[in-house]
Amino acid sequence: MSAQIGVTGLAVMGANLARNLARNGYTVALHNRSIEKTDALLSAHGEEGDFIRTETLQELVDSLEKPRRVLIMVKAGVPVDSVIGQLVPLLEPGDIVIDGGNSHFEDTRRREAALAEKDLHFVGVGVSGGEEGALLGPSIMPGGSRESYDSLGPMLEKIAAKYEGEPCCTWIGTDGAGHFVKMVHNGIEYADMQVIGEAYDLLRSAAGIEPAEQATIFNEWNTGQLSSFLIEITAEVLGHVDARTGKPFVDVVVDSAGQKGTGRWTVVSGLDLGSPVSAIAESVFARALSSQRGQREVAQETLQGAETAVELPDTFVDDVRQALYASKLVSYAQGIDMLNAAAREYGWDLKLDEIASLWRAGCIIRAELLDDIMKAYAGSEAPANLLFAPAFAESIAAAVPAWRRVVSVAVQLGIPVPVFSSSLAYYDGLRRKRLPAALTQGLRDLFGAHTYHRVDAEGTFHTMWGEDRAEVEAVDTH
Ligand code: 6PG
Repeated sequence: MSAQIGVTGLAVMGANLARNLARNGYTVALHNRSIEKTDALLSAHGEEGDFIRTETLQELVDSLEKPRRVLIMVKAGVPVDSVIGQLVPLLEPGDIVIDGGNSHFEDTRRREAALAEKDLHFVGVGVSGGEEGALLGPSIMPGGSRESYDSLGPMLEKIAAKYEGEPCCTWIGTDGAGHFVKMVHNGIEYADMQVIGEAYDLLRSAAGIEPAEQATIFNEWNTGQLSSFLIEITAEVLGHVDARTGKPFVDVVVDSAGQKGTGRWTVVSGLDLGSPVSAIAESVFARALSSQRGQREVAQETLQGAETAVELPDTFVDDVRQALYASKLVSYAQGIDMLNAAAREYGWDLKLDEIASLWRAGCIIRAELLDDIMKAYAGSEAPANLLFAPAFAESIAAAVPAWRRVVSVAVQLGIPVPVFSSSLAYYDGLRRKRLPAALTQGLRDLFGAHTYHRVDAEGTFHTMWGEDRAEVEAVDTH
């Protein structure tokens, strides 16, 4: 018996993907650096399907049908390169090496190019859905050669989450496209969680609504426009009571948020692409600020606070819901804008409707909204910005008055809402007829002769600021 796929790296994500493949009828060869993990998996779940136990990478490779498919599930970074280095000499042209970790897309581009030179396929696969998703059906974002997808795609589609029967997996594009899309997914995930946090803080600190009651509110929100996995689990976490103290669980958790890096990568990449992903950036910064515990302690003693009481509108709870919805839409719009910019930069033909469709189930940001986003991009004329799609232009317009009320209450009370407020600034920045960027250009021209364009004439100009202030035609140095 030979295996249809081999998995090396049997920590929880690798083990669960291997089990998912086996449960779906594939024969899976297992390998791990230490055999104990392989044996533990076999003894606990060996009866779930057909597994082949291997002790070395050579054995793993020998157990596979050709072309071979080897899924690497080790920590992103150096460990991936190290496994590739050991694996490649054992493979033959046409074999497929798959990286299912959260690798940086630039690493994936580099690895794909290096393996292509050896006539090997390298597929960088974004996998979302956490441990449970890996086992029961994740959302899968594969990038690599089209040819490799023809061989690998059916397996991935089979183990992926299904949305109304459709697999949440489709070929994203060449080289790093899959990992890029997964990275943006994670950036949106950061923003999604941050806006939920801002809503929670406002309901608690401005309106005095305790976590248990908020759980009910979030459950209610989960039945409407905001319906999503993250809102659902917010209700679960807020409703949880700490067994040791009897306090709300959220009150016994240290308020410093960790991060493994994908949100930061999204922002760095957004900066490189000139794509204004402010909601995602503010979410990463909010986690960073939360972790500056020393400074926060000093600040509590030193920095002046704000008013302690503000009259809240009767509609406050629903206003917060609408602010959350509008800010969430902005973060999706920014993430999608970044996908468009990356498609141009890296020569990927990213199909936004397909990407939205595979985020509808299995992944962490799965939300009802994604079905509408998919529809917004399914027609022949894609909107230049998600917010311009008629359905969203309308729903965000309906939310704007509440959004402004919420941000102003937060500002008056000194409750930080970096994503609610920066998303509103993005929205206003987009829609404003004239931006102060004209003044920025004037300043740049004065101190650095950086030139400017005029509203009423073609060409590039410079004013002789230090002389007679005459305007001259100039070479564009934008
Ligand atoms: C997913 C998640 C996952 C990510 C965690 C942790 O889609 O399943 O995005 O890939 O690793 O959410 O991310 P942070 O530690 O950076 O919050």
